[in-house]
Amino acid sequence: MAYEKEIIKRKSFAIISHPDAGKTTLTEKLLLFGGAIQTAGAVKSNKIKKHATSDFMEIERQRGISVATSVMTFEYKDHLINLLDTPGHKDFAEDTYRTLTAVDSVVLVVDSVNGVEAQTRRLMEVCRMRDTPVIVFINKMDRDGKNRYDLLEEIENELKINLHPMTLPINSGKDFKGVYNLHDKNLLLFTANTKADEDSIVIEDLNDEILNKKIGEYDAETLREDVELVDGVYGELNVGDYLKGKIAPVFFGSAVNNFGVKEMLDTFVRIAPPPQDRETTERIIKPDEEKFSGFIFKIHANLDPKHRDRIAFLRVCSGRFERSKYYKHVRLDKDIRFNNPYSFLARSKDIIEDAYPGDVIGLFDTGNFKIGDTLTEGEKFYFTGIPSFSPEIFKELVNKDPMKTKQMEKGVSQLTDEGVAQLFTQFGGNKKIIGCVGELQFEVIQYRLLQEYGAAVEFRTLPFYKACWLTSDNQKTLEDFLRFKQQNAAEDKDGNPVYLAQSEWFLNTEITNNPDIKFHFTSEIHK
Ligand code: G4P
Repeated sequence: MAYEKEIIKRKSFAIISHPDAGKTTLTEKLLLFGGAIQTAGAVKSNKIKKHATSDFMEIERQRGISVATSVMTFEYKDHLINLLDTPGHKDFAEDTYRTLTAVDSVVLVVDSVNGVEAQTRRLMEVCRMRDTPVIVFINKMDRDGKNRYDLLEEIENELKINLHPMTLPINSGKDFKGVYNLHDKNLLLFTANTKADEDSIVIEDLNDEILNKKIGEYDAETLREDVELVDGVYGELNVGDYLKGKIAPVFFGSAVNNFGVKEMLDTFVRIAPPPQDRETTERIIKPDEEKFSGFIFKIHANLDPKHRDRIAFLRVCSGRFERSKYYKHVRLDKDIRFNNPYSFLARSKDIIEDAYPGDVIGLFDTGNFKIGDTLTEGEKFYFTGIPSFSPEIFKELVNKDPMKTKQMEKGVSQLTDEGVAQLFTQFGGNKKIIGCVGELQFEVIQYRLLQEYGAAVEFRTLPFYKACWLTSDNQKTLEDFLRFKQQNAAEDKDGNPVYLAQSEWFLNTEITNNPDIKFHFTSEIHK
């Protein structure tokens, strides 16, 4: 086994949440524990503020911040932890989906006051597709939230995941007294801004009088009953089930008060998976293989419009990546090397000499990469499981300046390579259709096409609600369908046929009427 020591040290994960649940705050506390930052407030929120939807300076500023905080690496208890950032704004959800393909596990933050919110639901669907192990952190226990059992039930039902409480909270809001750690069997008393273990007491026996003294008779009695109930129902966490994505351990805490965070982090380093095997079009790739391989899951454009170079984010999947060594770019079938690959150590970029499975590195790109591209030491395969999801808003792209058609096409091609949006071309006609997850992305595209490519465009709203990729064992049936349904038929950027549905009803009707055609809700970028 190659590089075993390096591999088992590493844990790569992402924190996901609905905006405002506390992702940025939790990230910061984790970095403080890891010593990667010294002061609170050092991690900037990558939220695009609600009022700033058309403030492009804000978008540009955000792009700057999100490059800097895309990956934060810190050490904790002999582990090297790569924390991949995900954009807060829902219009950039597609970016988050792709980031989830590059991690081995996830921490989900739920706001105890608001419970499960729309974006959480969709992000969890993506985690479930890949059976990604999830740890849940229920945040803001210092606020008057929902009843904890109702909350657990809501999360289980809404997110379709089985939970396993690791800590139990004693009340919430102004009566919040702390959490009882069911695994370590100790009580952590709540104080704002807990530093370390100073406020935790080990309680061997819950009937000990000390419990009454610390939290009062009533709460002590309730805790005893709760612990008995929860222990009886759940028992010890089955780590194997967690690793299979079947059970999610749950922690209660308050990120802003740094309360309950360490308990979660300690469990994370104990149970979260190291770099995992990856599926490819040819075979399973194991992290401890001698030869390097990796894939691009995110591309960031340069902030300076005069320089079109971009940063491609590569997740190392096997072997050892070395600076200035030639690697095969499988899609282009050419060898390329990188003289200045860099790692992201909490906001500062460092040129690195090598990287190991689980690591994410930034590669300067002059237009060679698109999302899903694979690099190897010569072998030909593509990593799978990096699909495009159906966009939710579709608009026709209208070129306002025919003299700039070439620039526009180049711009659209590059922006779609970056994964900013998806491009479909209508069958029969030549109508270019841009599909995005949110309105904000159309503004970004319009702005960037003008700023970076000098191309003026506008958008015309189209009545579609979903794109489905089509396949069939019978090529003729598929071709006939596409011909009959010209208005709703298109091909994606790679020439794959797509059905654009006006509504769920239309889609279901077509699915029923065309049993020989398969309608797919995601597309593997490489097949
Ligand atoms: P996000 O990245 O998930 O969008 O959330 P973020 O961490 O920015 O937190 C959203 C708001 O919730 C912030 O307040 C933050 O201080 C607050 N918050 C985070 N954790 C807790 C907690 O445990 N308890 C309470 N009561 N609040 C918490 P803000 O007013 O929007 O920003 P700020 O001015 O405090 O930075």
